Amino acid sequence: MKRIAVLVLATNALIANAQSVPKTMKAVVAHEYGGPEVLKVEKIPVPAPKPNEILVRVIASGVNPADPLILNGKYAKEFGTHLPLVPGYDMAGVVVKIGAKVTKLKVGDPVYAYLLWGGGWAEYCISNETESAIKPKSLNFVEASSVPLAALTAWQAFELGKLQSGQTVLIHGGSGGVGSFAIQIAKARGARVIATASTANQDLLKQLGVDVAIDYTKQKFEDVAHDVDFVLDPVGRDTLARSYGVVKKGGIVVTIISRCDEAELKKHEIRGASLSSHPNSVELAEITKFIDAGKIKPIVSQVLPLTDATKADAQAETHHTRGKIALKIAEEPKP
Ligand SMILES: NC(=O)c1ccc[n+]([C@@H]2O[C@H](COP(=O)([O-])OP(=O)(O)OC[C@H]3O[C@@H](n4cnc5c(N)ncnc54)[C@H](OP(=O)(O)O)[C@@H]3O)[C@@H](O)[C@H]2O)c1
Repeated sequence: MKRIAVLVLATNALIANAQSVPKTMKAVVAHEYGGPEVLKVEKIPVPAPKPNEILVRVIASGVNPADPLILNGKYAKEFGTHLPLVPGYDMAGVVVKIGAKVTKLKVGDPVYAYLLWGGGWAEYCISNETESAIKPKSLNFVEASSVPLAALTAWQAFELGKLQSGQTVLIHGGSGGVGSFAIQIAKARGARVIATASTANQDLLKQLGVDVAIDYTKQKFEDVAHDVDFVLDPVGRDTLARSYGVVKKGGIVVTIISRCDEAELKKHEIRGASLSSHPNSVELAEITKFIDAGKIKPIVSQVLPLTDATKADAQAETHHTRGKIALKIAEEPKP
């Protein structure tokens, strides 16, 4: 009798810590660095979580310019990447296994994450509690998968530059992944928002709630924006170079593309900062609250199957994506 009770307890503990998981999975794999053509859909072993990790059944994975950037191998040393490589730095899915040291998340939790080491373009991926937060209730998994990297980048840029309510912020690339979240986060923080995009995306800027929309193909932003408190630059080059002059004394330029020109900062008596964003489940949980309060909404312009990963990667490389693209990897679980 006692032995049966022990057996039942042990079985229950196993069920609580893991769901049945196959040995192999479909994943998008690169065995060499290069363009989208190096990506192949293959069967590979399902990874096993370490004590502080979770295994997630991926429902959808967001696509970012980081995917082609890391895939081309140019920054392999800086990013610490190695081959074979499974791209995908965003995911939303369901926890199916937890390591022995995982304390907050449990099997069955719907989660989403910015994955530091990628691996989201697969049926299963590894994450941990410093990356993964509970998915917003108001979003499906596809929508949720498009949030973490881009929204956290915008969030961290405004934290870094200490954006205050009532300030005016100029957001370049307002129709892209980072820009579309940045507009909504800045508005939610009480800022006045000026944003740039091409002609085709002027409607999106307005839909996102900007106070002033600039079509950069028709108008120089410096003819419209003056004395702003904050510039968020996800574009770089000439756009960054022309941005210093529109910032008021004491204001700040935060670039997520390159480094600020120290001579220009000095000349205009402004500050500058470069951001390299990082996963952060605490900040992601804060973003979740804004999403579930209806203040931030992802704009998903394209949903593709895993087999179209090459197409997704090629689109991300254009730097002209409207909102976000997501790969749908499995059916949405029933609530
Ligand atoms: N440092 C970091 O941690 C970090 C994190 C995330 C992203 N990034 C980088 O930030 C950049 C943006 O990322 P993302 O995800 O937002 O990319 P994205 O989704 O491809 O969006 C780029 C946006 O920029 C707009 N754009 C292109 N040229 C422009 C110009 N000259 N002036 C104004 N807007 C312009 C495009 O709009 P139109 O199509 O209307 O031109 C597009 O919507 C990428 O290079 C990415 O690698 C860096």
